[in-house]
Amino acid sequence: MDRKGGGKRRTGEDALQKGAHHDAWGAEGTFLLQTPEKRELNQYWYSPHTIATLVKEIEEHAKKAAFLSTPSVFFSLKDPGLKSGSCIFDVDTQWESLPNFVKWNFNQPQHIDESYHHVFDYIVIDPPFVTPEVWIKYAEAARLLLRDDGKIILSTILENAELLKQILHVEPQLFDPSIPHLVYQYAFFTNYKPTYLSSPNPEISMD
Ligand SMILES: C[S@@+](CC[C@H](N)C(=O)[O-])C[C@H]1O[C@@H](n2cnc3c(N)ncnc32)[C@H](O)[C@@H]1O
Repeated sequence: MDRKGGGKRRTGEDALQKGAHHDAWGAEGTFLLQTPEKRELNQYWYSPHTIATLVKEIEEHAKKAAFLSTPSVFFSLKDPGLKSGSCIFDVDTQWESLPNFVKWNFNQPQHIDESYHHVFDYIVIDPPFVTPEVWIKYAEAARLLLRDDGKIILSTILENAELLKQILHVEPQLFDPSIPHLVYQYAFFTNYKPTYLSSPNPEISMD
């Protein structure tokens, strides 16, 4: 099943091409230019401004972060200490030569080496699907990776709000992601009061 869902209409289709709302083409631009999306893996990268906002948010709150299926954000981190202590968990082996890459398939959420259990204080999640079965697996992995007081940020359709409140105690935030090649509008959810996600994303039109 492909990513499906309702919600607000996504706009900012051409944010990437036009450079709209860029934060001066930093590391996020480098990742986006060098990494084509693979449709067979449901890869849909956030826009440059969305990535830059996430990076600010994560760098404000995290000391050691796990990025589950969110490579554009991991590779756009600016803080060298945070980046070297953090890990990207994904099924796409194009990054397997890097020390921070952990090959991981969400269908085996518990197949995560014990050395990664409960060591992260922050987790970032954007699965390739929006179904409850898939979210339950990602939540299982998140509980394994996070410390007790760990912070969570994730994106999916707003219709998953009730489920996500139950399984990960997260709430939708005002700042929505721009994902230029994805048809449906997503929302960001967190389990804490965020610093940079409390006002609407100027990339998203509400009409
Ligand atoms: C919709 S994309 C999310 C990307 C995110 N928006 C970003 O900008 O980094 C889904 C991600 O899930 C990964 N993925 C696909 N199948 C997976 C699987 N079976 N297990 C773990 N990750 C998977 C893809 O490689 C991709 O990074």
